[in-house]
Amino acid sequence: TNIAVFASGTGSNFETIVKAMEAGRLDCNVSLLVCDKADAKVLDKAKAFNIPTFVFNPKDYDSKADFEQEIITQLEAKQIEWIVLAGYMRLIGTTLLSQFESKIINIHPSLLPSFPGKDAIGQALEAGVKITGVTIHYVDEGMDTGKIIEQEALRVREKEDRDSLQQRIQELEHRLFPETIQRLVSNNLEK
Ligand code: GRF
Repeated sequence: TNIAVFASGTGSNFETIVKAMEAGRLDCNVSLLVCDKADAKVLDKAKAFNIPTFVFNPKDYDSKADFEQEIITQLEAKQIEWIVLAGYMRLIGTTLLSQFESKIINIHPSLLPSFPGKDAIGQALEAGVKITGVTIHYVDEGMDTGKIIEQEALRVREKEDRDSLQQRIQELEHRLFPETIQRLVSNNLEK
């Protein structure tokens, strides 16, 4: 099974997915990284692991439909079956959604439907919740609204600061994401 990771940032989740694949814990090939920022750190990681990349600037296209059509061409050339969003800071449009129906997943650093959108960790701290966590969900046209696939909770510590909570959320992501992708690609999950 060929999968593509879409990421615009640091790429720590991208890295754990690639490492899980190399360690034989993930029964698929990370065949392409799609990135919409030419200076994203995740590109250095792709280079280090020899993963092909498609880097584009949305501003070079007239519309989302246009750049998503180009992405589809790139995905088809690599026979991609699944799209994994890992910090791709952009809503997916109908062009990609209709071509990859129920084959696009995202990871989000809160227990959805609480705290969708940007800075979910900051939102959770601001709200003073005692429990937060990580959600992996199918992607639809909304912002972090698709059907939930997997969640895991984590208890916020007394007076915990942002760095600490963010680090613990990331550790959780790095375990949960490869595990869940493996269950999906091996068909071990109910739709
Ligand atoms: C993760 O926290 C993920 O939940 C969110 O974006 C972040 C990406 O981090 N969607 P990284 O680039 O994988 O380090």
